[in-house]
Amino acid sequence: MYLCTRMYGIIRKILFSIDPEKVHYMVMKRLQWAYNITPLRALLKNMYHFKHPSLQRTLWGITFPNPVGLAAGFDKDAKYTDALAALGFGFVEIGTLTPRPQSGNPKPRLFRLPADRALINRMGFNNEGSEIAAERLKHRKEKLIIGGNIGKNKDTPNEDAIKDYEASFRHLYDVVDYFVVNVSSPNTPGLRALQDKEPLMHILHTLTQLNKSLGTPKPLLLKIAPDLTNEQLDDIINIVKETEIQGLVATNTTIDRSNLTTDKAAVEAIGAGGLSGAPVRCRATEVISYITQKSNGTIPIIAVGGIFTAADAKEKLDAGASLVQVYTGFVYEGPATASNICKGLIS
Ligand SMILES: Cc1cc2nc3c(=O)[nH]c(=O)nc-3n(C[C@H](O)[C@H](O)[C@H](O)COP(=O)(O)O)c2cc1C
Repeated sequence: MYLCTRMYGIIRKILFSIDPEKVHYMVMKRLQWAYNITPLRALLKNMYHFKHPSLQRTLWGITFPNPVGLAAGFDKDAKYTDALAALGFGFVEIGTLTPRPQSGNPKPRLFRLPADRALINRMGFNNEGSEIAAERLKHRKEKLIIGGNIGKNKDTPNEDAIKDYEASFRHLYDVVDYFVVNVSSPNTPGLRALQDKEPLMHILHTLTQLNKSLGTPKPLLLKIAPDLTNEQLDDIINIVKETEIQGLVATNTTIDRSNLTTDKAAVEAIGAGGLSGAPVRCRATEVISYITQKSNGTIPIIAVGGIFTAADAKEKLDAGASLVQVYTGFVYEGPATASNICKGLIS
């Protein structure tokens, strides 16, 4: 595995010379192709699947084979879930999906900051729509735990946002294991205003009712921004209690640009977007600690933000998280990320 990690260091140099969004799809298509060839699938699983009974976590009645998931945004349209399962992820969160397909923001919209081990993105929920993703998930081969992350279309006014969340919830209900309400992306104008108490209570109450009416309720989580103040986090804790949702995903990308090593002018030239990776690690951990302490550990949290290694994952689990997710860490560390973290967690 050490050799694989060293090799990815060399491969990463080549991959990082290509446009980040292009290379994302290029790599994922090849991975899915490899998965579809039986001996290559077996090889992938042999290299990257790491199983150990102590890694299992049971949460909301779901048994996760390990606590390391892939964060939302990586496989928005649920195209590569089988290949991702072969890389040893304990779960994958698809989305953010909107009820109608949309193309997202103009390109380029994804940028690397290698000096900071970070990314900046302003994708803007580019996706094929929740109905198509749901259809795709019906035909998946691997029994992988799937989270469904849902948002609103860009052209839907905030007053009508609930209709979008309801529509995607209905589309995905039969094919996902848990839901995440995303109101924390910085790349859809006005979306973060839905984190305010009144609109958020309305969305979560309505989805909770819908959830009960459709059959056995699925765990419903809220994904929050790292840029919330402590007062806003207090509100979130109260909202979780009042609406009786099952937990939080903390955190999304940040709009903060302080303490970056990358040249200031280069960062400014990139422009607006959410920053992810190493620079968001500390703040994400702080948010998780704050919520855990203030709620006496009563709110289950999926931690995300700046996790690259087992030590980063442990930091989040020690802060009170039950599960972790990676995005930027996967881009920088490569296909062995999940298995390396899993191995480190048991040693
Ligand atoms: C290119 C990119 C696209 C993303 N898209 C989404 C998204 O659609 N929905 C979402 O909830 N989070 C999205 N995220 C945020 C990640 O899920 C994660 O919360 C954030 O990147 C922090 O984790 P990290 O430091 O491991 O990357 C995206 C992140 C990146 C880098």
